[in-house]
Amino acid sequence: MPKKTIILGVTGSIAAVKAENLAKRLKEIGRVIVVITEAAKEFVAPEGLAKASGNRVVTSLFEKYRKERETVEHISLAEEADLLLIAPATANTISKLANGIADDMLSTLVLATKAPILIAPAMNTNMWETPIIQENVAKLKARGYRFIGPAFGRLASGRMGKGRLAPLGRIVKESERILKEKKDLIKKRILITAGPTQEPLDPVRFISNRSSGRMGYALARAALSRGGGVTLISGPTQLLPPSGAEVINAQTAKEMRREVLRNFKKADVFISCAAVADYRPKKREKKKIKGERNFTLELERNPDILKEVSRKKGKRILVGFALETENLIKNAKAKLREKNLDLIVANPYSQAGRETNIVKIIDKKGRIQNLPRLPKKEVARRILDRIARMLK
Ligand code: CTP
Repeated sequence: MPKKTIILGVTGSIAAVKAENLAKRLKEIGRVIVVITEAAKEFVAPEGLAKASGNRVVTSLFEKYRKERETVEHISLAEEADLLLIAPATANTISKLANGIADDMLSTLVLATKAPILIAPAMNTNMWETPIIQENVAKLKARGYRFIGPAFGRLASGRMGKGRLAPLGRIVKESERILKEKKDLIKKRILITAGPTQEPLDPVRFISNRSSGRMGYALARAALSRGGGVTLISGPTQLLPPSGAEVINAQTAKEMRREVLRNFKKADVFISCAAVADYRPKKREKKKIKGERNFTLELERNPDILKEVSRKKGKRILVGFALETENLIKNAKAKLREKNLDLIVANPYSQAGRETNIVKIIDKKGRIQNLPRLPKKEVARRILDRIARMLK
């Protein structure tokens, strides 16, 4: 197996003194190229890192330009990377990344690479816990950046707290795990719908359901990390879209249908995770309905998007979801048949709205894979395992 390339970004935390050791250990699992920031140079010498990594250390965005008129080193490095690991990552670097600032080689690389990014923060506890940093971390996580640590322990200030760089052994192990991740969806286009739809009855009101969109977004992230091209058609949610996905917003079932039809042709896989409202108000009032008297709201059927596209299935793999309050297996199997699906993911209503899910994956032959309670991220991985096997 050819060696994988790890770009190790070192930023200006006191934990940067561990970077030489980290580079040495990473060399056991791949080829290591170190990129350091200006502030990191206060704690660790490029020469030592070059020795530890066995490669030239990249110290500036313009170094090669000055010497060789090389203008695109950030692009070639970004393309070479199989993993971009930032350890230690300071509060400043995390915040820059969360806002797309690219003012040095490392932050520019982060924008330019398609490789997975693993961030190992190290800072004082108060800095770590401050809401602005927590918000930036949450933002990056939602976009598919991974984090390891920080760990609890004695900090540079002498105090105990959360903020230490994760143990080097754990960082190396996690890096190795990411490098070995399956890339079995490369060149595949995965179309995913997620979230609820909203069906207006007047300019300010709508009917909808409790879908959070989390399952569909987890599927999008998981498909991206396996190398798939992802189109995510999303109903209104509170979630941040994963970076790398083509995201299309749709409010109503009609809008969602239009976008699904438009994107179905180029898809290899369609995962219909959205909780599409089955009905919409027959009439959409132009003016706000006044609360003066009783009235009856007449509803009409929305199109069944999945059923409609299943007639043009071709070689595509179709996956549906069934949320049921009763007769889970029986109802799910009926939907699988009726909508001509390859798989249906059945989940009991009792699990709705949680971070975890207990699902059963049912295939065409009626075989049932019972999964235990798992985080949605893990459920997504299991569903994609099945899809990837069918694509082979
Ligand atoms: N679905 C769809 N369009 C609809 C309704 C549902 O594409 N108008 C898709 C969902 O995304 C899901 C599957 O069909 O993958 C099953 O959705 P569900 O609402 O459970 O089933 P329905 O067919 O609407 O049946 P019912 O509501 O009667 O249980």
